Amino acid sequence: LIHLLTTEGLPRRILTQILDKAAEFVSGGELVNQKFADLAGTSVFNLFFENSTRTRTTFEIAAKRLSADVSSLNIQASSTAKGETLLDTIHNIEAMGANLFVVRHSDSGASHLIAKHVKPGVAVVNAGDGRHAHPTQAMLDMFTIRHFKGDFTNLRIAIVGDVLHSRVARSQIHALSTLGCPDIRVIAPKTLLPTGIEQLGVHVYHDMESGLKDVDVVAMLRLQNERMAGAYLPSTQEFYKVYGLTPEKLAFAKPDAIVLHPGPMNRGVEIDSAVADGDQAVILPQVTFGIAVRMAVLSIVAANQRSLL
Ligand code: CP
Repeated sequence: LIHLLTTEGLPRRILTQILDKAAEFVSGGELVNQKFADLAGTSVFNLFFENSTRTRTTFEIAAKRLSADVSSLNIQASSTAKGETLLDTIHNIEAMGANLFVVRHSDSGASHLIAKHVKPGVAVVNAGDGRHAHPTQAMLDMFTIRHFKGDFTNLRIAIVGDVLHSRVARSQIHALSTLGCPDIRVIAPKTLLPTGIEQLGVHVYHDMESGLKDVDVVAMLRLQNERMAGAYLPSTQEFYKVYGLTPEKLAFAKPDAIVLHPGPMNRGVEIDSAVADGDQAVILPQVTFGIAVRMAVLSIVAANQRSLL
């Protein structure tokens, strides 16, 4: 693993290596309050061409915890606005001594493009590209599921909502499938599902009662209005009525089911506040574990890049 661009095709051995490494940074459900030297002397650049609260901040914290030198570009105030191309920006930052790029971009494939053009020894970590992939989100979700539920091989998991526009759902499905989850469900209206989703090995449901029946994990998704240009846009009230996760709908799942959400949440649209703030929600632990998982990813890709030089 010299770049982390997607969970698709990543072997179980590597997914497990990331989860196990992340576990070294967590104790009793909290991040260990300690600094590590894994990235001492490494220059990490966060390039977020799309908005972010959790991913950008937790990558920054993760890199600092590993003793990296961290720079986060303010893209809105950068020369991108003057017409500089993505690759010119990358090459200029490489000239400043970058060793590792963390990239979020609205174009699917942006991280792959950068990974093809960086110098040997420079790593790229995808922090979300268009509708395509959000591998560290999926890995922190896997970490959270493993933390609360143990093994994946007996779990029923339902991914609910706007699967069509979701890079998170795609990355979750690939990771869950590789980790041996036997029953991965997606619950959504037909208009918010990609055609051929069944080919990924998921079971498709269009109603919450049958889709949530006896599941161990409910992974909610936001309606991603920013990626819906020209597409079917359900009214938020209509969506909430049928697919919004209320305590009544959550009762279809197992009594000890956990509820995940990648954030940002739209309360009263895909999730009711009584669930978001309830006992079964593990949404804030996801954020904490995100730091540990991103520490693991940064540490592993940087070490692998160093070993190639
Ligand atoms: N889950 C997630 O990617 O959140 P941000 O957009 O705030 O980074």
